[in-house]
Amino acid sequence: MKTLKDLFLDEVADIYDAEHRLLKALPKMAKAATGKKLPKALLAHLKQTEGHVLKLEYVFQCFDQPAKRTTCQATVGLLTEGDELALEYKGSPALNAALIAAAQKVEHHEIATYGCLREWADLLGNHEAAGRLQAILDEEKAANETLTELAKDAANNEALDQQVAKASIKVMGKSQAASRRAIQPAKATRKRARVSAM
Ligand SMILES: [Fe+2]
Repeated sequence: MKTLKDLFLDEVADIYDAEHRLLKALPKMAKAATGKKLPKALLAHLKQTEGHVLKLEYVFQCFDQPAKRTTCQATVGLLTEGDELALEYKGSPALNAALIAAAQKVEHHEIATYGCLREWADLLGNHEAAGRLQAILDEEKAANETLTELAKDAANNEALDQQVAKASIKVMGKSQAASRRAIQPAKATRKRARVSAM
């Protein structure tokens, strides 16, 4: 019968795989992002992610286990979606908002996972491992907050401004067409008036 320790080790192997995938994905996301702040934040999280891999290796050691990866399907899916968004929104002012959303989905998955792992490590009596997992959890939460700030400070407004600009061009276009329609009947009436006067 599978135990809590099995569950714990399975989940550590899963998130260990996720962190490796993020080592590859974060530089790509930073390259795709525009401006200075978002690429910088993504690359800063890349540095932290390198540390997360090492901390997880320590967690495996705490349980006398070799470090092992099992494919994290959730991260595979989230990163595939992120790649698709980056491609779809390339050149769009909504690109950074899209990239932040993709990165935050990954962060939320990590926060949920590390929260469970820290709790289970404590329950299993391995406080050393719990301490490392809490340290990773704190960094994931901070990274997520940084992304929220970047979205609220700039990325969302950049996307919205463009939306507003597009909408006002549409409205202008419509009102110009409406005034053209209003002028044309007037011209037609004048023409009819000239014809009847003759
Ligand atoms: Fe991480």
